[in-house]
Amino acid sequence: MVKFRKMAQSDLIDVISIEKEAFGTESYDDFVTCISRPIYYYIVLEKDGEIIGYYGAMIIGDECEILTIAVKKGFRRQGYGKSLLDNIIDRAKAHKCKVLYLEVNENNNIASSLYLKKGFVESYRRNGYYGKDDALILKLEL
Ligand SMILES: CC(C)(COP(=O)(O)OP(=O)(O)OC[C@H]1O[C@@H](n2cnc3c(N)ncnc32)[C@H](O)[C@@H]1OP(=O)(O)O)[C@@H](O)C(=O)NCCC(=O)NCCS
Repeated sequence: MVKFRKMAQSDLIDVISIEKEAFGTESYDDFVTCISRPIYYYIVLEKDGEIIGYYGAMIIGDECEILTIAVKKGFRRQGYGKSLLDNIIDRAKAHKCKVLYLEVNENNNIASSLYLKKGFVESYRRNGYYGKDDALILKLEL
């Protein structure tokens, strides 16, 4: 069975292991801070009791921003990335958000493909945000 639920501090070992394989980073303190703040929505996707993905989003006023999203290796290409994104979109709509933003490395073709298929469009570009690579700020009107 697959379900979404709020991320808890006891999930962080599993979440950080996914973060590490997805981004090469380990942001334990950031997660601890974010999961306890009301404007942040840190959600895990569980399959048969195993955490297989997560996202972090921030809602302020009528804007939602996706801060992080990842699916555990071994569970990718099975539609879970799309499910996570749909869950964020539903959450943002439930909060009456009018727009959803995210930032993606210009060379992250896999994630970009997921976003563009959902209807995101490029809003602007942060040159050199990732060192050599630019960041694309994508926007979805809700
Ligand atoms: C991006 C990510 C979340 C996608 O998760 P996923 O569960 O594999 O995605 P889905 O199976 O739902 O696929 C959704 C779409 O993504 C794209 N996609 C996913 N994997 C792909 C691959 N290996 N090659 C090309 N496109 C791919 C496709 O457009 C796919 O749509 P399709 O199934 O109609 O072809 C996952 O690859 C991941 O965790 N990557 C590392 C972390 C990351 O880059 N996060 C985004 C930061 S902005």
